[in-house]
Amino acid sequence: MSNFISDLPKVELHLHIEGTLEPELVFALAKRNGITLNYLDESALQAAYQFDDLQSFLNVYYSGMQVLLTEQDFFDLTWAYLVRSHADKVRHVEIFFDPQAHLERGVPMAAVVEGIVRALEQARQQWGLTSRLIMSFLRHLSEDSAFETLGLAEPFRHHLSGVGLDSAEKGNPPTKFARVYAAALEQGYRLVAHAGEEGPASYIRDALDILGVERIDHGVAAITDPPLMARLAQERIPLTVCPLSNLKLKVINHMSELPIPQFLAAGVCVTINSDDPAYFGGYMNANYQALQEGLNLSDENILELALNSVEACWLSPEEKAHLA
Ligand code: HPA
Ligand code: ZN
Repeated sequence: MSNFISDLPKVELHLHIEGTLEPELVFALAKRNGITLNYLDESALQAAYQFDDLQSFLNVYYSGMQVLLTEQDFFDLTWAYLVRSHADKVRHVEIFFDPQAHLERGVPMAAVVEGIVRALEQARQQWGLTSRLIMSFLRHLSEDSAFETLGLAEPFRHHLSGVGLDSAEKGNPPTKFARVYAAALEQGYRLVAHAGEEGPASYIRDALDILGVERIDHGVAAITDPPLMARLAQERIPLTVCPLSNLKLKVINHMSELPIPQFLAAGVCVTINSDDPAYFGGYMNANYQALQEGLNLSDENILELALNSVEACWLSPEEKAHLA
């Protein structure tokens, strides 16, 4: 591991808390909650983390999170992530959670939000590690379900900075959630969406023009659309790219194909993130390291990527002072 990368203070902007569920914790929570798993042991579960595409990952991801039932489970999950991130010198994190995946299993919104928030608050007190929380809608579910979720979040509104959109992208375009995003904006939420991971560049345009998002999660498909690239650069619209995720889900076949140098050269505010680190083989340092090795990036390139994340995050200018 390069010292430059391991010593660099970092900001993480694209992280699904349910995607930080390590096999060890799956088994510990299954035991605590009296759940029988379909895997004999941790290494058998780990061996199942081989994916062909986004959907094959999502199947394992939704199955794994069934061990999460109580407020304490969500605290333990989040705390384990924060301990790892603190070790990687992460100073600020903006975390997604998927309430619909828990509500449909009978887990109340309160258990999810309060467990996550308790861990975030402890990290702030112990290490000064700051955070924002983003509620993400599952795009394979209906507009009605998203609206219902937005309503259920109202008592927790003060804990939530923004809304996002994740899950199966193909066949679930941003337009499906235009009215939900309009309502979220009305309620003062900041807006982001996954777009251009497996879906086309047109989904990135629609996320910007129809949903009104200020940041695009993934967005790698923009490389196929020069006018869109120019716009992203001109408006400094951040992309939260996730290198190991793109590799594991076969968005790219080799790290050398990830268009990070092209984004940097074009002046796009591209950032590096871990997405679902328990499933994709590494947290923030591992993502930066794999990227540097795969693309022969200089330390100056790495620094520029880290500074883009500072620019793109939701801290106030005063709050950003602690990131240096
Ligand atoms: N893409 C879409 N949905 C997701 C992802 C992702 O990378 N991670 C968790 N849900
Ligand atoms: Zn994601």
